[in-house]
Amino acid sequence: MDARPLSVTPARANHSGPQASFPTARPRRLRLNPQLRAMVRETQLAPDDFIYPLFVTHGQDVQTEINSMPGVFQWSPDKLAREAETIAAFGIPAVILFGLPAEKDSIGLENFAPDGIVQQATRIIKDAVPELLVVTDVCLCEYTDHGHCGILNTGEAHTHLPEGYVLNDETLDVLVKVAVSHAEAGADIVAPSGMLDGMVAAIRAGLDSARFEHIPILSYSTKYASGFYGPFREAAQGAPKFGDRKTHQMDPANAREALREAALDVAEGADMLMVKPALPYLDIIRQTRDHFPELPLAAYNVSGEYAMVKAAAANGWLDEERVVLELLTGIKRAGADLIITYHAKDAAAWLRK
Ligand code: PBG
Repeated sequence: MDARPLSVTPARANHSGPQASFPTARPRRLRLNPQLRAMVRETQLAPDDFIYPLFVTHGQDVQTEINSMPGVFQWSPDKLAREAETIAAFGIPAVILFGLPAEKDSIGLENFAPDGIVQQATRIIKDAVPELLVVTDVCLCEYTDHGHCGILNTGEAHTHLPEGYVLNDETLDVLVKVAVSHAEAGADIVAPSGMLDGMVAAIRAGLDSARFEHIPILSYSTKYASGFYGPFREAAQGAPKFGDRKTHQMDPANAREALREAALDVAEGADMLMVKPALPYLDIIRQTRDHFPELPLAAYNVSGEYAMVKAAAANGWLDEERVVLELLTGIKRAGADLIITYHAKDAAAWLRK
């Protein structure tokens, strides 16, 4: 064996003549100090990229932390004005609301009740901080006793479909009622998340005929059947009592189908698109951005992605500030304009340091 150390560029040590083997291109020149690095930074992350999720629940003086999501709480209405002020003070422009109803049933009646929890929360937040945008999640799963995102086939309704199948068109009627009732309560944007066929067209028509033609739809256009929603299902108590969501949410293996889903939602009148989850699907974010450059694109950095970071940080295995800013920057670099994230308040504070 030759024991001499590997010599990469021996020329400099041995010659004083022409040194053709040295690089003329040196990317490190622009990394020399923080000022240079800032000047050539391609992706800028800012608090106004964020949408902060809020879980709202009935009761008084409730602020219950989610076990698997440290720093994230379920809030009762009386606590919301203060929390809305805090969020707005961080420079975060919007919240997205998820409601925990007082009672569940097979349709989810509270979902479109004028005094439903999301409707109450919307009014309180808009009263307290009118400039904070309220986005509402439009889905059935938190409201139904079976935990599914739609009305289920009983076997009699559709003998040719399996028992327990999420019925598409019957569910659309409910989604329209929910979206209109959120708009009536003062929601600025509605965000249907059920991955049902035709949901955007149905909601658009419903909003328009109720004179809410000015309310935009942020469609969860490409939402995968993901294991990363686990902690959310504890937070919003919306886990399916049986089965899964694979007959409507997308197969994680599919990318071309993501473009088909997005194209359908664009055709149906979506104002903004979304990819969810974010981190395992950065390629989908990039492709959606490239194929639909004319629409704003959101990415949902979901509960399981948050929980992984928090757990590792709590063990001292990761520097939370560094990894959170890095992963949010990555989501934005992949092509997202907006990021729905539980890290929003922390990240906004770190960005302002
Ligand atoms: C459905 C909905 C879910 C999430 C947002 N909206 C749950 C699901 O589809 O099972 C998950 C968000 C997260 O994990 O942070 N209403």
